[in-house]
Amino acid sequence: MSEVTMDKIVSLCRRRGFIFQSSEIYGGLNGAYDYGPLGVQLKNNIRDIWWKEMTQLHDNIVGLDASILMHPKVWEASGHVSNFTDPMVDCKQCKSRFRADQIDLNAACPVCGTKGSFTAPRNFNLMFATHIGADIDAASTIYLRPETAQGIYVEFKNVVASSRVKVPFGIAQVGKSFRNEITTKNFIFRSCEFEQMEMQFFCKPGTDEKWFPYWREQRMKFYIDRIGIVPDHLRWHQHGPDELAFYAKDAYDIQFLFPMGWQELEGVHSRTDYDLTQHQKFSGKEMGYLDPETNERYIPYVVETSAGLTRNVLMALSDAYEEQTLADGDVRTVLHFHPNVAPVTVAVLPLVKKDGLAEYAEKLEHELREDFATDYDQGGAIGRRYRRQDEIGTPYCVTVDYDTLQDNTVTLRFRDSMEQVRVQVSELVSTIRKATKEYKRV
Ligand code: GAP
Repeated sequence: MSEVTMDKIVSLCRRRGFIFQSSEIYGGLNGAYDYGPLGVQLKNNIRDIWWKEMTQLHDNIVGLDASILMHPKVWEASGHVSNFTDPMVDCKQCKSRFRADQIDLNAACPVCGTKGSFTAPRNFNLMFATHIGADIDAASTIYLRPETAQGIYVEFKNVVASSRVKVPFGIAQVGKSFRNEITTKNFIFRSCEFEQMEMQFFCKPGTDEKWFPYWREQRMKFYIDRIGIVPDHLRWHQHGPDELAFYAKDAYDIQFLFPMGWQELEGVHSRTDYDLTQHQKFSGKEMGYLDPETNERYIPYVVETSAGLTRNVLMALSDAYEEQTLADGDVRTVLHFHPNVAPVTVAVLPLVKKDGLAEYAEKLEHELREDFATDYDQGGAIGRRYRRQDEIGTPYCVTVDYDTLQDNTVTLRFRDSMEQVRVQVSELVSTIRKATKEYKRV
């Protein structure tokens, strides 16, 4: 086992086309990243597994895709205009900027070493402001949403009126959010543009006591059972009184053991009726719910599950990364992705290019595309090609050799164990499906 460092992950991501710094040819833009061919597939796979889990496997949750730009009153009502701030200080000597809560203000500047050089802390709002329409004035100021959750609250009444949902029910959404973060170190962990996967579960006041632990359990199970994360790399952190938002009844974070230590991955929050009540106050529209069975009218309580999708990508990469020293002293870098998460599921490799092996392998790869995300690679020694697939986390390699032409069997190689078995081509799809279903990280 080797130590997983952020540098190793960043380097692999760049080398193999998972993630690049945005606008690299111009020197890069801090806090913004581009997802390359393998990265976007990895991100989409995690998103799709979450979406299926939430909307398909729970019968009381519906989906939504709200707009990034919203009426500016939304952010007054939610409290983001007045409260969504970080305390910021500058070094008067070298002009470096820090979050006041993350450094010791009496110590020397960590960049230039000057003592007593910090400005007084001042609050800095994390929302990106822009303007809608041709006039650039206060009246035209709008914000890029800093969370997807508010889009769900403002559509609560429309969803109730137009769908057949009844409380308790949830609304799930995946989308981009933007925060003008002061410190953006640790790769994609904290970026200015990122994606969230959020679900707001609306329930009768009082029943939140039951739904809050229910959703905590569901969310932890999701990472272990569906994304295949090593259980020892996950833990709970309950918010203390100094961390809890003033309206929140309770809040827990799922933390993951990232290369830089334990950090938040997802928040599960008991938000009471705060958000709907605020929108009722600011919009003047009734945000309550009329229970069709009891005729009771109330503003539902909300249990929120709020995960970072891009932060999930960093978790999947960190959790999967291993440099293994093999029996012959060779070192292989391998990503142990769960097969459902891996950007490529099956790679088809002809042992050699000649004698019709490449043609056979190419045809087989085309057929497998109907069932799996595939790759085809005919260049170089077979051992090197296996290593290339290990490094991007491909769980299955299929090798076409001379025997294949005689008896329609291929070698199926498993990434984690490097075990190889002989399989009839006609049984390849079912064998891979079965192995995926039974996959256990060793
Ligand atoms: N609606 C509640 C909410 O947004 P949050 O704790 O501020 O709560 C939820 O954010 C999740 O979004 C975090 O656990 C994290 O995974 C992700 N997240 C927040 N800020 C982020 C950033 N700057 N970059 C990447 N992910 C971020």
